[in-house]
Amino acid sequence: METKITTSLSLAFSLIYLSLPPLAIAFVPRDNYLISCGSSANTTADNRIFAGDLSKPGSVSLSSGDSISLTNPNTSSKSAPLYQTARVFTSASSYEFNIKKIGNHLVRLHFSPFTSQNYNLNHANFSVLANGFAILSNFGVRHTVIKEFIVMVNVVDFEIEFVPMNPLSFAFVNAIEVFSAPDDLIFNYGAKMIGPNGIQEFKNISKQILETVYRINVGGLKLTPFNDTLWRTWTSDEDFLILKSAAKIASITHTPNYQTGGASREIAPDNVYMTAQQMNKDNLSTALMFNITWEFPVGSGVGRYFVRLHFCDIVSKSLSQLYFNVFINGFIAYKDLDLSTLTLHSLASPYYVDFIAHSDRSGVVRISVGPSELSTSLGKNAILNGIEIMKMVNFVGSETRSKKTSIGVWVGSVAGGFTFLCLLVLALLVILRCRKPKKKSKPAESMVWPSLRVGSLHSRLFEGTALASLGPNGYLGLKISFAEIQVATNNFDQNLIIGSGGFGTVYKGVLNEKTKVAVKRGVPGSRQGLPEFHSEITVLSKIRHCHLVSLVGYCEEQSEMILVYEYIEKGPLKNHLYGSGLPPMSWKQRLEICIGAARGLHYLHTGSAQGIIHRDIKSTNILLDENYVAKVADFGLSRSGPCLNETHVSTGVKGSFGYLDPEYFRRQQLTDKSDVYSFGVVLFEVLCARPAVDPLLTREQVNLAEWAIEWQKNGRLDQIIDPYLMGKIRPSSLKKFGDTAEKCVAEYGVDRPTMGDVLWNLENALQLQETRRQRELHEDSSIRGSSEVVPDLPSSSVEIDGDSGVSQVFSQLLNSEGR
Ligand SMILES: *[C@@H]1O[C@H](CO)[C@@H](O)[C@H](O)[C@H]1NC(C)=O
Ligand SMILES: *[C@@H]1O[C@H](CO)[C@@H](O)[C@H](O)[C@H]1NC(C)=O
Ligand SMILES: *[C@@H]1O[C@H](CO)[C@@H](O)[C@H](O)[C@H]1NC(C)=O
Ligand SMILES: *[C@@H]1O[C@H](CO)[C@@H](O)[C@H](O)[C@H]1NC(C)=O
Ligand SMILES: *[C@@H]1O[C@H](CO)[C@@H](O)[C@H](O)[C@H]1NC(C)=O
Ligand SMILES: *[C@@H]1O[C@H](CO)[C@@H](O)[C@H](O)[C@H]1NC(C)=O
Ligand SMILES: *[C@@H]1O[C@H](CO)[C@@H](O)[C@H](O)[C@H]1NC(C)=O
Repeated sequence: METKITTSLSLAFSLIYLSLPPLAIAFVPRDNYLISCGSSANTTADNRIFAGDLSKPGSVSLSSGDSISLTNPNTSSKSAPLYQTARVFTSASSYEFNIKKIGNHLVRLHFSPFTSQNYNLNHANFSVLANGFAILSNFGVRHTVIKEFIVMVNVVDFEIEFVPMNPLSFAFVNAIEVFSAPDDLIFNYGAKMIGPNGIQEFKNISKQILETVYRINVGGLKLTPFNDTLWRTWTSDEDFLILKSAAKIASITHTPNYQTGGASREIAPDNVYMTAQQMNKDNLSTALMFNITWEFPVGSGVGRYFVRLHFCDIVSKSLSQLYFNVFINGFIAYKDLDLSTLTLHSLASPYYVDFIAHSDRSGVVRISVGPSELSTSLGKNAILNGIEIMKMVNFVGSETRSKKTSIGVWVGSVAGGFTFLCLLVLALLVILRCRKPKKKSKPAESMVWPSLRVGSLHSRLFEGTALASLGPNGYLGLKISFAEIQVATNNFDQNLIIGSGGFGTVYKGVLNEKTKVAVKRGVPGSRQGLPEFHSEITVLSKIRHCHLVSLVGYCEEQSEMILVYEYIEKGPLKNHLYGSGLPPMSWKQRLEICIGAARGLHYLHTGSAQGIIHRDIKSTNILLDENYVAKVADFGLSRSGPCLNETHVSTGVKGSFGYLDPEYFRRQQLTDKSDVYSFGVVLFEVLCARPAVDPLLTREQVNLAEWAIEWQKNGRLDQIIDPYLMGKIRPSSLKKFGDTAEKCVAEYGVDRPTMGDVLWNLENALQLQETRRQRELHEDSSIRGSSEVVPDLPSSSVEIDGDSGVSQVFSQLLNSEGR
């Protein structure tokens, strides 16, 4: 069943790929500091401009301390222009970077020593601290060295401090890069720790400062920053292969098939996935089993390493031919790896797996791949496309000097409280699997959906629930020409920009001189790529609902990826809750918005044949039209849900911090209950008028869901609500709302209600609020004060219990009243 869906999906994808020129989308980091130290001029390196630190580049400051700018006096020196100047520090001093986006950042420090009259930079001896944490100590260089780190920055001012080791020594640096990493570069969970005790999950990776030790393009050439999406350098694997004759290079010439849930171009560039080493069977009997092994010296001493292996099956002629084993330091790390099932049944699809390994006594990290017993003797093979080895710098109980919040706390707290329950999860999974899947009734038919307006453009598009089919004009004739879009947006007029996000820029426009539209244009700088683009078209073209944003069309010309939606007048719900100075909304209005969004989600989950999981529910993805009717938007990450005999879809974790279902995070298995969790967070956001994650608050308050649950459990939720709502919510309505939100963010999916139940309970909360108003209108002294009387609804007899059968009846009752 699952196979059927995924193959038809990937068929749709591959059909598109055939007709598409390869798209290269550059990543544009939110924070992007490139500093040429000791220089007053801008210097260009690998197509990027490094600003001279003497020219006082905006938002970077050099703190007190003694420093000197130096220029290499040797005019015949052959080193790069960036390395002709340096800043020398004779006492501790630091650069401070103003951070706009909290999250992982890449930090690169360039050292290229030269000799001037007073300083021989070869003799420098110093430490470097990142926000108080030593990332280099007793450090000095004799030749050009670039040190790269991945650091979680959770403060608005990020500090890099240079500290000479003793009063006679000094520190120096030639250039500094500090830029935001793509959100999906490092996930907190999901890495497998390999060792003598078998495979365990390693948690809180974001807490670790990672120092790049090796970055290898296996079977390929050296890749320079110029060739890489994140300006990384990849080197060839040749020097690390233990038995060169065991391996043979494989390569392809077409771009890899990137898939949602697999690796993206930011994880590694095309070139890494286009080459690999495979078993060389030329001179050996085909029946022979052997490994290909690489050894990476990492120095003696105990060290813990983050090892990311990149795979892309460029050797198989058909699916499910290749099964192989992966070993790290002689321990099995991945048995019977079958790339075709991990990559949605497509060949040449990039994928990566993260491991944590210790260096062993021999001072190396050893990686082997070898054939699995599952393969047929002719098909025996094993491949590897890329290797990244990063040292966990702060692993061995190091201390931080800084008073600032320690790195990684906020990300940790997102999932805090769930980590210790691994065993229970396993038990629950068994229960989940044993539960006989209920055949879903068809609420979409029996419920009366309020029909607000049906975009005329769409009336011809929707015939049931089949996957969008490709006609000569693409998906159901939704194609719009680039020229039309240029006209609609006044050639992408800057003044028409209404937003920008991971995908690109959103413009307001008028299509065919009559239809107001929002035009989302993926530009160089997009974090999301082609798979998200197609996923959004696939999903949106097969559904239509008044609480879901409609797709008007799309454009795929001239390497453009453009989506055109109906224009939603009042924008994201979030802006109406906090932070943008818009007038506060009444409780009734907020409830109606939540109900609308719940309807939209309920429809997604149950309304079409397979059910769709949105995966990125948050207050910025719920839009409000001119009548404050909620519309769920942004389907770029959505997936077809599990079918009846499956309980989940396996997938790489995608979504937004603060809204991410912790169970999904842990197990990477997606169910519609993940959306319910995110929706619960939105409910609290609506009630408390604050962001899902606010790293500037105290530790207990950072994560809204955790914080609100504390107050809800103590029965004091009313203490933390939006001050504007104080005294305006009827206690019974608040209680119903709080209980519902609490159930939604339950730790385990099975304990969470369905969207149908959530919808019903929100309707109930609205009724409870309304009952009071009606009473106030027809002032009746005999009822006054009996606040718990709710005449029409058997609210106490129906509780959210995850069993949708009963509640759907009431949902229907409610809905038949219409709104
Ligand atoms: C350096 O480049 C920036 C843009 O990247 C520009 O605004 C600035 O004027 C340049 N400074 C000099 C000294 O050329
Ligand atoms: C200047 O650089 C050139 C090229 O690297 C080198 O051959 C020469 O020895 C250097 N001169 C001095 C004085 O260091
Ligand atoms: C720096 O000095 C320390 C002693 O203060 C010494 O142990 C270390 O090896 C020196 N490092 C370099 C790179 O010279
Ligand atoms: C990498 O970039 C260089 C330019 O710096 C270019 O000449 C080379 O062909 C590129 N290599 C690949 C594999 O794209
Ligand atoms: C196979 O063996 C021959 C002779 O030993 C050698 O010349 C040749 O390079 C080998 N081929 C490969 C692919 O290793
Ligand atoms: C591959 O290496 C692993 C770990 O060293 C070892 O256990 C396994 O037997 C090797 N496989 C073959 C076919 O040599
Ligand atoms: C992960 O972080 C959370 C929250 O900071 C903490 O409670 C937990 O102990 C950490 N787990 C590990 C294994 O370090």
